[in-house]
Amino acid sequence: MTILVTGGAGFIGSNFVLDWLAGCNEAVVNLDALTYAGNVHNLDSLRSNPLHVFVHGDIGDGELVARLLLEHTPRAVLHFAAESHVDRSIHGPGAFVQTNIVGTFQLLEAVRAYWGNLEPAAKAAFRLLHVSTDEVFGSLAKDAPAFTETHPYEPNSPYSASKAASDHLVRAYHHTYGLPVLTTNCSNNYGPLHFPEKLIPLMIVNARAGKPLPVYGDGQQIRDWLYVKDHCSAIRCVLAQGRVGETYNIGGWNEMPNLDIVHTVCDLLDELQPRADGASYRSQIAFVADRPGHDRRYAIDASKLHRELGWRPAETFASGIRKTVQWYLDNPDWIAQVQSGAYREWVAKQYAAG
Ligand code: NAD
Ligand code: TYD
Repeated sequence: MTILVTGGAGFIGSNFVLDWLAGCNEAVVNLDALTYAGNVHNLDSLRSNPLHVFVHGDIGDGELVARLLLEHTPRAVLHFAAESHVDRSIHGPGAFVQTNIVGTFQLLEAVRAYWGNLEPAAKAAFRLLHVSTDEVFGSLAKDAPAFTETHPYEPNSPYSASKAASDHLVRAYHHTYGLPVLTTNCSNNYGPLHFPEKLIPLMIVNARAGKPLPVYGDGQQIRDWLYVKDHCSAIRCVLAQGRVGETYNIGGWNEMPNLDIVHTVCDLLDELQPRADGASYRSQIAFVADRPGHDRRYAIDASKLHRELGWRPAETFASGIRKTVQWYLDNPDWIAQVQSGAYREWVAKQYAAG
């Protein structure tokens, strides 16, 4: 049997593919457009693995997707591919509409045609799992209960609006055409292979390079952090046991203000790789202009997934962040390789005033 993964050269997708092939013998067809966020080197360890077929292409290329489906007859499609960075969506929302909305629509059309022609047993067993985010629910007040699956959609950034639109399309393809879909809405991930434009890897990489650690606004915005491999295990769990047409929230029960996250990273670096001058990495923290429309708080109630499917995260934040910082210290070549010219241009544009 085979699964088709989209976006499997990105942060979460590559962790998912690596974990999948470490844990079972089911082949993976990995379709990825290799945007700035995609990195084939994340998959280097699979080079000689015949169970991994990498295809360089766009989810919006209906003909390509249709051909891959017919050729490999996957029993499931796991849809990770997306434009994923909020700050980039503020500078240039067009790519987010194109990939997250139009691309998901094209993918759904190709999958619907393929699924419609499967023989009854394969048709009944087929699943499309759509990987989404808690950001579709908008911003929570300080003391409001965490997002449940029935929380209204109130996306505030072009990124979250485009993901919300893709969630709605996936839902509609189930209700209208009967396509057997599953949707997951996960909180902020962190871990190995995370592109250093997002908070945690940016802080580690900047700290080690002696650069400022840019904290937006007052640094009191709250996110709910989950170690990426726990997200991957939750997706495997939903794929195996999730009820068709349902959505499942995934989270780590770990709300933290951004400034506390940055302090934790600095303290770990102070312990694991102290600065030559003996000062703390905390001295590199620099408060910079806030993100426009910055959501104040996200928090995920993942009790449905625990209650119905028995999933729980394996890592605490303390164990996951230690592994993450250590991974970046152990992989300077990976960091150097992703810090291409395009990366440097982004950093110059985003942090010009800071
Ligand atoms: P990422 O930006 O690291 O990776 C995205 C991948 O998709 C890249 O490999 C990129 O090349 C590929 N891609 C982009 N456009 C494509 C296209 N048109 N066709 C084919 N491939 C394309 O993102 P990530 O952090 O790994 O996120 C993966 C998914 O998980 C996204 O759907 C995101 O919305 C969701 N998600 C992310 C987080 C998080 O904290 N990172 C949390 C919850 C949900
Ligand atoms: P990010 O990793 O971009 O994820 P998201 O916006 O999807 O939650 O940002 C996490 C939090 O960290 C968010 O509140 C914005 C903040 N942040 C900073 O303070 N400084 C930075 O340089 C970045 C990239 C993010």
